[in-house]
Amino acid sequence: MENIDWKNLPFGYFKTDYNVRCYYRNGKWGELEACSSEYISIHMAATALHYGQEAFEGMKAYRGKDGKVRLFRWVDNARRFQDSANGIMMAPVPEELFFAAIEKAVRMNARFIPPYGMGASLYIRPLLIGSGPQVGVRPATEYLFMVFVTPVGPYFKEGFNPVNVELVHDYDRAAPQGTGHIKVGGNYAASLVPASRAAAEGYSSVLFLDAKEKKYIDEAGPANFFGIKNNTYVTPKSHTILPSITNKSIETIATDIGLKVERRPVPLDELETFEEVGACGTAAIISPIGKIVDRETKKVYQYGEQSGPISTKIYQTLRGIQEGEVKDIHDWTTVIEGI
Ligand code: PLP
Ligand code: COI
Repeated sequence: MENIDWKNLPFGYFKTDYNVRCYYRNGKWGELEACSSEYISIHMAATALHYGQEAFEGMKAYRGKDGKVRLFRWVDNARRFQDSANGIMMAPVPEELFFAAIEKAVRMNARFIPPYGMGASLYIRPLLIGSGPQVGVRPATEYLFMVFVTPVGPYFKEGFNPVNVELVHDYDRAAPQGTGHIKVGGNYAASLVPASRAAAEGYSSVLFLDAKEKKYIDEAGPANFFGIKNNTYVTPKSHTILPSITNKSIETIATDIGLKVERRPVPLDELETFEEVGACGTAAIISPIGKIVDRETKKVYQYGEQSGPISTKIYQTLRGIQEGEVKDIHDWTTVIEGI
């Protein structure tokens, strides 16, 4: 086995041994297949390529201090994957098939699960595409469900240190009644120009406003947004943001440690009242935000240079549950035995 520099893994693609695939044809799902090729062969008129019939998920497998490998709230990912499929008229993947594919992909690539304590994990990427041909704008009749895994380090190079983000007014990732609430490729395509611009201007991420009124904070490119003040955890309620499983878990952890939780529209001018702010998601985990710069008004919202005490406590609790060191009182983790 090649030597993997676990401590310095970026958040990126790293070739593993196998991926798992399953085809939907003639109205039903076939058998799961393991495959060692990184390539797929699909029809050039596949709806995924023309009309964006594509959805994905992002999850992680964590190696604990006790040596066990845990998944975190996989049922929620399975359900969101179904919501995404239904939202763009694709064949939804049944929960049992979703789990079987993930388990198989993790087991077959067990040697790529980062050891405990490296600040890394095995990222799991389920993917569903319309593989059947159409030329008119219609849903495909054939679908391909795949899962690949790849060992990753922190999404933001800062890790659990504050990142700077750029608030934009001139782009939206999703339309008010569009697809922002599901995890489909088009939302991410729409975020590429402002996100690349933000990166070129020295920011780790872009922060979007609500697409309709441009008055409320929506979310960051790849993560939900939260703010903390007066012992209260505040996070946006919006139809155009992805319902983050990390965020939902943080709301519960925040309640458990005695904070109030408010999920409601967060007006832009409330930004200056927060004591701590951050971005959260599977890839981002909890990334404290040090500074938000409004690209249009040039207003700068400055937060601490260190991660705040409440974000830190929540981060440690969440990581502790995922790695089996904090009691999993809500039954969020699933151990994959024997690897
Ligand atoms: N928001 C967006 C746009 C995302 O892509 C993600 C990642 O999946 C999240 C939020 C965080 O969601 P989760 O915590 O379920 O990973
Ligand atoms: C995740 O957090 O898992 C994501 O999918 C975010 C991003 C890499 C799109």
